Amino acid sequence: MYQLKNKRILLGVTGGVAAYKSAILLRALTRDGADVRVVMTLNACEFITPLTMQALSGRPVHIELLDAETESAMGHIDLARWADVVIVAPASANFIARLTNGFAEDLLSTLCLATNAPIMLAPAMNQQMWLNQATQDNILKLAARKIQIMGPDSGNQACGEIGPGRMLEPELIAKAVAESFSNGLLTGSRLLITAGPTREAIDPVRYITNRSSGRMGFALANAAVEAGADVTVICGPVSIEKPERVKLIEVQSANDMHHAVMQEIGINDIFISAAAVADYCLVKVADQKIKKSGEDLQLILKKNPDILAEVAALECAPFTVGFAAETENLEENAINKLQRKKLDMIAANQVGEELGFDKEENTLTVLWPSGIQQLELASKDKLARALIAVIAERYYEKNSNQAH
Ligand code: C5P
Repeated sequence: MYQLKNKRILLGVTGGVAAYKSAILLRALTRDGADVRVVMTLNACEFITPLTMQALSGRPVHIELLDAETESAMGHIDLARWADVVIVAPASANFIARLTNGFAEDLLSTLCLATNAPIMLAPAMNQQMWLNQATQDNILKLAARKIQIMGPDSGNQACGEIGPGRMLEPELIAKAVAESFSNGLLTGSRLLITAGPTREAIDPVRYITNRSSGRMGFALANAAVEAGADVTVICGPVSIEKPERVKLIEVQSANDMHHAVMQEIGINDIFISAAAVADYCLVKVADQKIKKSGEDLQLILKKNPDILAEVAALECAPFTVGFAAETENLEENAINKLQRKKLDMIAANQVGEELGFDKEENTLTVLWPSGIQQLELASKDKLARALIAVIAERYYEKNSNQAH
């Protein structure tokens, strides 16, 4: 099963005999669909070769903090930002102590300081080292910082002793990582999401469209599924992989999308309008292919229905979230849109040469009637998870206000 599909996992390996099991863990993570980059400490390289990890991950292994070659391919800050989750398996007593004290003397400890992704540790060490008060104090401090500690198991150890300190089995670590993505924030709620561009026909072979790829809408759909929601996606023509575990309705024009949304909206609690709906369509679509004739060709356009505004104006409107793709005055235009369309929330992004449509990464400024939150530059998948978390928070707040 592809439980970790599209998840970006940074796997840190530290020096300990259990390092050989990190190769099995890497296999399990890639088998479940994750994109894994491996970071090894110098001590880890004494136990298992970087070549093994490179072959299994299909990517170069990162080892040195100041390695010009790997830094130029992907610098340590990029790597920290890239990760959806950081797993350190095995995590040695020494690494745990370094992490507790915030050291940044090698690549892995630096990454752990520089990332805002969740960190999960699978400790592995001799049982006396694990039971030592210093290690136990460190573990308590890390757990208080919301670092997830997986295991350790108890049993026969490579050193011949018996007790707690064996690294948790790779399959159980992979399962814990998959579970960490299903956050249950929207369990029991129904979401309707529009995604992608629309196509406005000119004649039987031509149309007007835009550069929306559908990535943001699909990433939101995946994040909402992860959060436990029942998700319906209505999308225009896109060429990217469709989300799984959703009800998918494919449409062409803004009018088709309007029709589909109005049919589906009734049972939904939240509506996210991530589609780049064409504002205009042709007054009359030509029956036959338009022939090349004079120097000019005039197309007469009329306004399409504003699907988002119409949903927000419904008597039993769901929690309504719009998008504002702007090339200038981002915040001001977004606030206007939020008020004019009477939305519960708007996610504004700068579009243009470098950002926005058809790009892998983005930033978002999220606004609602009483607040604002900036979501930093990240992959659209990561951004979508952050946006779903903000939406869930505001949605429950609105519901509890209405109940009082
Ligand atoms: O007014 P503007 O088109 O910039 O608003 C953007 C927001 O409105 C997006 O959330 C988009 O999905 C939605 N929209 C819509 N129907 C339209 C045009 C835009 O739902 N015809």
